[in-house]
Amino acid sequence: MQRTFAIIKPDAVAAGQTGEILAHIQKAGFKIGGMKMKRLSQLEAEGFYAVHKERPFYGSLVKFMTEGPVVVLVLEAEDAIRKWRDTMGATNPANAAEGTIRKKFATSIERNCVHGSDAPETAAVEIPFFFSSSELL
Ligand code: RTP
Ligand code: MG
Repeated sequence: MQRTFAIIKPDAVAAGQTGEILAHIQKAGFKIGGMKMKRLSQLEAEGFYAVHKERPFYGSLVKFMTEGPVVVLVLEAEDAIRKWRDTMGATNPANAAEGTIRKKFATSIERNCVHGSDAPETAAVEIPFFFSSSELL
């Protein structure tokens, strides 16, 4: 079993899509190991996306991620990191495959409804960024 970190982003939470996205996650075979709804502070969003600090979209991304509450999740499955990236679909919904969460719910390359860790090292940083071990199954 592997763990990955996921976020249901503010666009999807505000649009009332949280339940459908959770159902999609469970149908895809993930076990939910941790979950909470929270509003990211400016500092949390800046820190979480620090790897993108030099990118032109960084300011806009931080603004988006703090505009309303998100749902943060720890997902468990065999090969969970790759499996969750596949379940989400491509960053830009225009390139997302049929049947993926981003194809169904994302409205732009920025407002793309979900986040997923991109590597084991990233998941190992992102999970404890939001969860203490006592909050996980
Ligand atoms: P994420 O980190 O959220 O799972 O998404 P990702 O790996 O598919 O994409 P990444 O390159 O890490 O970008 C992080 C998030 O920044 C926003 N973005 N905006 N305007 C743009 O060109 C642009 N590019 C990326 C998206 O919200 C993306 O998910
Ligand atoms: Mg990424």
